[in-house]
Amino acid sequence: MGGGNKIKSVAVIGAGAAGAVTAAALKAEEAFDVIRVFERRQSAGGTWIYDAAVQPNVLVRPGALPAEVDPPLEIPESLPTVTRPNQQERFSTTPIYDSLTTNVPEIAMSFSDVRFPYGPFAPHHIPRQYIENYFALHKTDSFLVLNTTVEDVLKINHPSNDGSTQWKLTLRRYDALQNVDIWWEEIFDAVILANGHYSVPTIPYVKGLEEYIKKYPGRIVHSKSYRSPSIYKSKRVVVIGNSASGTDLSRELISTAQLPVYQSKRSKTWWEGDTPPAGIEWKPVISEYLPDGRILFDDGTYLDDIDTVIYCTGYKPSYPFWNAKKNGQPLWDYRKGRLVKSYWHTFFQDFPNLGIVGLPRVLTFRSFEYQAIALARLFANRNPIPLPPIPVQQAWVSEREELTRKEHRRFHDISWDEGETHAWLQGFLNWSGLGTLTGQGRIPPPLTKEMVWAIENLKKYRPGGDDGKKDSNGQPTEAYEWIMVENRKRDVLGFI
Ligand SMILES: Cc1cc2nc3c(=O)[nH]c(=O)nc-3n(C[C@H](O)[C@H](O)[C@H](O)COP(=O)(O)OP(=O)(O)OC[C@H]3O[C@@H](n4cnc5c(N)ncnc54)[C@H](O)[C@@H]3O)c2cc1C
Ligand SMILES: NC(=O)c1ccc[n+]([C@@H]2O[C@H](COP(=O)([O-])OP(=O)(O)OC[C@H]3O[C@@H](n4cnc5c(N)ncnc54)[C@H](OP(=O)(O)O)[C@@H]3O)[C@@H](O)[C@H]2O)c1
Repeated sequence: MGGGNKIKSVAVIGAGAAGAVTAAALKAEEAFDVIRVFERRQSAGGTWIYDAAVQPNVLVRPGALPAEVDPPLEIPESLPTVTRPNQQERFSTTPIYDSLTTNVPEIAMSFSDVRFPYGPFAPHHIPRQYIENYFALHKTDSFLVLNTTVEDVLKINHPSNDGSTQWKLTLRRYDALQNVDIWWEEIFDAVILANGHYSVPTIPYVKGLEEYIKKYPGRIVHSKSYRSPSIYKSKRVVVIGNSASGTDLSRELISTAQLPVYQSKRSKTWWEGDTPPAGIEWKPVISEYLPDGRILFDDGTYLDDIDTVIYCTGYKPSYPFWNAKKNGQPLWDYRKGRLVKSYWHTFFQDFPNLGIVGLPRVLTFRSFEYQAIALARLFANRNPIPLPPIPVQQAWVSEREELTRKEHRRFHDISWDEGETHAWLQGFLNWSGLGTLTGQGRIPPPLTKEMVWAIENLKKYRPGGDDGKKDSNGQPTEAYEWIMVENRKRDVLGFI
C-alpha cells in the first residue's frame, strides 16, 4: 500500500477542477507535511478560465502530434537560475468562447460538498468561480504555486536507499517585473497529474491542407481560437466536426455568417435529426484542399471562395514535462491513444507514487472526486484493500484494449449506459473505504438517484436537431437552454 513509500510530500500539477478536488482530498487525509499545487496560469480554474484575446491564432501542423508541437523546453544545466523568458508556444490559453455554457447538469458536474450556484447548465464563468472558490473553501489556496510551470518530472532514488523513489520537479516561473524566467527544483514523495487534456489542438492530416494554410494565412482556424460569431459576419464558413464544439459553433454561426454554414461531419451524434437545422448544410469529410482555394469533399462535391474553415476536431493530451528517457517509459502512447502501463485510468503499474486525475471521458468533476480520494487514501497508506497485483493490472489493460477495440471507442472513454461508469466508481469506493473513525480522509460520495436522474434526463442538446430559429438579435426564439429527454439513442454521456 502507498507503494511502499512513506509519502509525506505530494505535488499536484494543475489547478483546474481535478487539481482542486485532489488538493482537498489530500488535505483531508491529514497525513502529508507538504502539498503543493503547481499551476502555470495566474489563477485556478483550468479549462474554465476565459481568455478574451487569442492572438496569434493557435494552429498546429495538420496531422502533427503534441510531442512535435509541444516539445519540452530546454532546461538550464544548473539550477536554480534565471534566464530570458520562454518564447515557445505552450498552449496554455483555453478554448472558452463567449456563449459557452456547461453541458452536464450541475448536480453531476459539481463536487459532492458544494453545488454550483445555479443550473442545470451554467455560463462558463460559473465553473471558473466555483473552482477558485473550492480552493478557498478547503483552505487549500495556500497550496497553490501560481504562474509556475512544471517543466520536468524525473524519477530519483529515495535518499534512504530502501528501493523506493521520489520525483524531482523542475519548475519555471515567469517574473513579469524583471521579464525573466526563474528556474528551480523541488523534490516530492509523490506526484498527481491534473494537467488536463484540452490544451493542444489537433487538426487531421488532409491532402493539400498544409500548403493551403501557407497560401491562405488565417483562413484555417481551430475551435480553440474561436470566441464569438461576430467576426464571421457575412463570411462563408465551413465547420469541421460534429461533437460538442462542432455543434455549438455551426449553430451559433447561423446568426452572422453567410448561409448556409457548412458542417463537415464524419459521424452522427444522438442529438441530431435526419436533416440539418435550418441554415446549416451538412458535408462529408474533406478529401483535399486545392492550390486555387477549392475544397473537395469525399462525395466528389466541392466549395469555392470559403473565407474560414474552423476545425472543431478536438485535442490530444500532452505531457511535455514527463522525462520519458530517464523515467524509462513514455507516459502516453499516441498510436494506441492511451496511458502507458496504467490501471483504472488513474494508477501506474511501474510508479506507485504517481497518479493521474481527470483523464477519462466520463462524468467530469464528480468522478475526479472519486479518483482524488482513492489516490489520497493510497498515498496516506490507509486504503482498506490494496490495488490488485501487477499481473491483474496488466490483464485489465489487455482486456480493456480488446473491449474498446471491438466497440470502436477509445481506451479511456468510459460509457454510462451498461453500468461501466458505476463499476469504475465502485472500484474507487472499494480502495478508499471510509477514512478513519476520527474523521481523517474524505469519504467517496454516493451516486444519488437525483443525480442519476439528472444525468439521464436533462440535456443541453436538443435531440432531432435545433430548428435554428433565431430572433433578429440572433437569439434562440424559444426555450433553448435545456430540455428533458426521454428516448436516447447513444451513450447518455457520449458528448463529454
Ligand atoms: C470547450 C470545452 C468545454 C467543456 N465543457 C464541459 C462541460 O460543459 N461540462 C463538463 O463536465 N466538462 C466540460 N469540459 C471538460 C473540462 O475540461 C472539464 O470539465 C474539466 O474542467 C477538466 O478539468 P481538469 O482539471 O482535468 O483540466 P483543466 O481544466 O485543463 O486544468 C488543468 C490545469 O493544469 C494546468 N497545467 C497544465 N500543464 C501544466 C504544467 N506543466 N505546469 C503547471 N500547470 C499546468 C493548466 O494550466 C490548467 O489550469 C469542457 C472542455 C472544453 C475544452
Ligand atoms: N460545454 C459545452 O457545451 C462544450 C462545448 C464544446 C466542447 N465541449 C467539451 O470539450 C471537449 C472537446 O470537444 P470538441 O467537440 O472540441 O472535440 P471532440 O469531442 O474530440 O470532437 C472532435 C470531432 O471532430 C471530428 N473529427 C475528427 N477528425 C475529423 C475529420 N478528419 N473530418 C471530420 N470530422 C473529424 C470527430 O468525429 P468522430 O466522432 O468521427 O471522431 C468529432 O466529431 C469535450 O469534452 C466536450 O464535451 C463542451
